Amino acid sequence: MAFNEHLNNFIKEFEISSIKAIEIANNFKVAMEDGLIGKASSLKMLPSFIGKPSGDEEGVFYTVDMGGTNVRGAKFQIRNREFKNLDEVKSRLKDPDGKFNFTSKETTGEILFDFFANCVYQIMGEDNKGYLGHTFSFPSSQTGINEAKLIHWTKEIQVSGVEGRNPNTLLHEALKRKGINIEPVAIINDTVGTLLVAEYMYEDADIGVIMGTGHNACYLERKHPLTGKDMIVNMESGNFNVGLPITKYDRAIDEKSVIPGEQMLEKMVSGYYLGEVASLVVEDLYAQGALFKGNEKAINIIRKKGLEAQNVGSFITDIEKTINEYECSMEDAEVLRTIGETLVNRTARLIVSTLIGIMLHIDEGEIKNPHVVAIDGTIYEKMPKVPALMEAALTEFLKEKAELVSLKLVKDGSGLGAAIAAAVAVKSL
Ligand code: GLC
Repeated sequence: MAFNEHLNNFIKEFEISSIKAIEIANNFKVAMEDGLIGKASSLKMLPSFIGKPSGDEEGVFYTVDMGGTNVRGAKFQIRNREFKNLDEVKSRLKDPDGKFNFTSKETTGEILFDFFANCVYQIMGEDNKGYLGHTFSFPSSQTGINEAKLIHWTKEIQVSGVEGRNPNTLLHEALKRKGINIEPVAIINDTVGTLLVAEYMYEDADIGVIMGTGHNACYLERKHPLTGKDMIVNMESGNFNVGLPITKYDRAIDEKSVIPGEQMLEKMVSGYYLGEVASLVVEDLYAQGALFKGNEKAINIIRKKGLEAQNVGSFITDIEKTINEYECSMEDAEVLRTIGETLVNRTARLIVSTLIGIMLHIDEGEIKNPHVVAIDGTIYEKMPKVPALMEAALTEFLKEKAELVSLKLVKDGSGLGAAIAAAVAVKSL
């Protein structure tokens, strides 16, 4: 096979045609509607017990944000729909040099939540009282704004003794162990936090999306079956799996994962896995003689360092860096750039397909209302070309209807959103 044919085959495997996109959108809508009424579905459709904040929320609130890569404790003031970040502290959960790892099986829930309590301790100052909102970005079934149960970890976290328990009870116990009188009053998903902040900013905000280490989306359900009222639903859309064009690379990643068979969409689009998919493609093209031909050194550098999402990003933007870092030819660097662009384009197009599914559900089968989609996360914010690729996909898939949709970067929903949720919860204490 000619050199380019291998590359072209790879590109084809990762293509999402507009016919496929609409098929995915329709499958997604069906999965939402099944999940919402409790039928078997890959979408968990978890109620959040929060809808649209009124906008008159006020006060100072603590927040803890547990996303999977970092944990952040912060203190915010909310007033007149505006926020002031009074203080914050952020710590990695895993040391890059391997000195500590708060995501491993050996870590107990107690150790993990003591670590969170310590973040709160560092910013609480003298007062030692107040209320706290917790952004806990993992699938949790909720029966109230402060009542949650972790269903299972995602993003390859394995901490023991947390699944099946209420993270806010564990947090409260840890705070008490440290003599901290701050009380957790709300627990939300990061997508929900992003949408809450967007609701403060845009009248038509009805979808919240995270494109970061993980991938997930939530939306505002106008008449939730549980309450008949507005409620944000955390779909756990990273677990969507109906009719996805899964490649052999995705399957290999899934088999190796600590949760095989789960989070299929997330494994295809999110930051945690993007570098791994790229590594597998690189290995395959190398084996086929379509990359690093006669340059064993380059493949060994990649094998040694591994690839992460940010490396995939620099394949796209910085050919010179690629040539220097992997000691490869211009031709090889161009192949790496094509790999990066292909993977990122697949991410953009798959996610847009699901967004169309959400809007089809909200607008009951035909998109006719304006929608603001609030998006946060490093893949949207920092990965080259992603916002433009998503806009282009929307126009390609929806034609003139795309004008009804605005994609907006909404930053720090997981901090500010938790403060809003705490403020809403405190009103009904
Ligand atoms: C994973 C989690 C989900 C979270 C997302 C983004 O998919 O299961 O709860 O929203 O990552 O952080």
